[in-house]
Amino acid sequence: MKKLITIIFLSLFSLTLQAGDVEAGKKAYATCANCHGSNGEGNATLNAPSLGGQHDWYLKRHLGYFMNRVRGFEKGDTFGNQMAPMALTLIDETGIDNVVAYINTLPAADAPATIQGNVDNGKALYGNCAACHGANGEGNDALNAPKLAGQHDWYLARQLKYYKSGTRGNNPNDTYGATMVGMAALLADDQAINDVVSYINTLQ
Ligand code: HEC
Ligand code: HEC
Repeated sequence: MKKLITIIFLSLFSLTLQAGDVEAGKKAYATCANCHGSNGEGNATLNAPSLGGQHDWYLKRHLGYFMNRVRGFEKGDTFGNQMAPMALTLIDETGIDNVVAYINTLPAADAPATIQGNVDNGKALYGNCAACHGANGEGNDALNAPKLAGQHDWYLARQLKYYKSGTRGNNPNDTYGATMVGMAALLADDQAINDVVSYINTLQ
């Protein structure tokens, strides 16, 4: 079974992003909109991050991760666990390509700040992050680093805590998450997380 999952996983990710069918993706997105919002703006009450403006390859990779149990199944990952069955509604790689093509048409997110940290200290800490996520938090295709600017701060903070606690990035198939486990370890405590996230809030 494990071998089969690995084969499915590898075949899914050895393929590059195909141009999806936006209309089919729009239909599939009706389910997603319940939590992520009809414009992909996210929903704080439902703990759902924004999706609008995120890189298509990142969205695709993570929908595959949720589908293939690479993300959302570690101990303590309550919210990832809510998301995982939703990815299964997309059925297969074509379904993922279609919904991602539709998400690509949604406006870039610009979430309101809710976390107040020390922005100056956060700026200094972000010096460690910019090499991969970009000086403006725009992400980097070649380094597989997602866009951070515009994302909800509570979501960013929670993910950083997850990487630190081993709730995210620990699955043996989660190569990119493993990179982030090392990076999150550079943030000493919750205060440092709030500081860096407050600085990310200032990026466009
Ligand atoms: C029941 C609510 C719910 C529904 C419906 C839902 N999601 Fe999610 N989604 C979440 C939550 C909560 C998270 C955050 C998981 C975490 O903290 O790791 C999430 C995370 C994600 C992520 C990861 C974003 C990132 O920056 O890492 C993607 C991509 C995503 N969802 C896409 C979708 C798509 C596409 C659909 C429709 C097929 C969908 N979601 C349906 C609740 C939902
Ligand atoms: C060596 C490159 C690298 C560095 C440096 C780095 N990251 Fe990342 N980061 C990544 C990659 C790759 C991912 C995607 C991981 C995955 O797929 O789970 C990521 C994911 C994230 C996520 C999850 C975003 C989401 O939508 O779920 C957050 C938050 C994040 N990084 C914040 C930071 C912060 C803050 C720093 C600095 C302390 C940092 N990163 C430094 C490469 C890096």
